[in-house]
Amino acid sequence: MSVTSLKLAYFSPTGTTRKVLEAIAEGIGIEPVEHLSMTSPDAAEKSVGNFTDELVVIGAPVYAGRLPEVAVKRFRRFRARDTRAVLVVVFGNRDYEDALLELFNLSKDLGFVPIAAAAFIGEHSFSTPDVPIAPGRPDKADLDQAVAFGLTVKHRIEDLASPDSSVPLQVPGSFPYKDGMPSIEGAARTLVDICTTCGTCADVCPTGSITVNTVVETDPNLCIKCCACVKECPTQARIMDNPIITKIAVWLNENYSRRKEPEIFP
Ligand SMILES: Cc1cc2nc3c(=O)[nH]c(=O)nc-3n(C[C@H](O)[C@H](O)[C@H](O)COP(=O)(O)O)c2cc1C
Repeated sequence: MSVTSLKLAYFSPTGTTRKVLEAIAEGIGIEPVEHLSMTSPDAAEKSVGNFTDELVVIGAPVYAGRLPEVAVKRFRRFRARDTRAVLVVVFGNRDYEDALLELFNLSKDLGFVPIAAAAFIGEHSFSTPDVPIAPGRPDKADLDQAVAFGLTVKHRIEDLASPDSSVPLQVPGSFPYKDGMPSIEGAARTLVDICTTCGTCADVCPTGSITVNTVVETDPNLCIKCCACVKECPTQARIMDNPIITKIAVWLNENYSRRKEPEIFP
């Protein structure tokens, strides 16, 4: 089957997964590249169509060693017919545990044929200037590796052009999967004195948990702690000072500061 176009399908609240996928696409070099972002709340309803003979790079961040539940729900709307897929998880320099296996199994359930997979590192959502965790990643070295991975994928597709070629691919992880995100009460909050009610936080929230009128209100039951609002606020008026998240961030900073490198399969 010849591949005629490239789609990047992703959930990426703080943008690191999207960045990695874009670098992989550069390496693959197939035009046109279509973005299918499943990040915003309208992704839960928007028409995603059926996949056939395109190549789809599917990416998601790792939350507690698993895929974010909301990403799985949105990806479940994909329908593919033997469509070749490249699977990518992006984690914050701790570990990705069962997330890549979960994406591998999910993609096959949806009708994709995974041909390659990778785990990359992105700045941790809980990272702050005071408590940095993988700050600035993916950096140039990561993105160079992503481009190189894309080139490998391109060659793999060429090798797979023959009808009897098979796709041996195994990814790490165990099933049954580990438990996913525990429920953590609370949400990011707004420092009213410096908030300009510009609405950026509401625009970038992947679950629609934020409403902005004369003040900013956040529904803690919808907040998935992705910290997109914190990272994107132009006046640094959004902060995540939930004591549990703060404790986790300090633990990550103390125990996972040694640089991890991307892993590529096969
Ligand atoms: C709720 C939550 C849980 C996370 N769990 C993990 C984890 O288990 N391991 C890890 O290394 N990083 C973890 N991270 C960090 C993200 O995987 C990482 O920051 C990723 O680059 C975010 O992707 P995005 O920029 O596409 O949103 C977690 C982040 C959040 C918000």
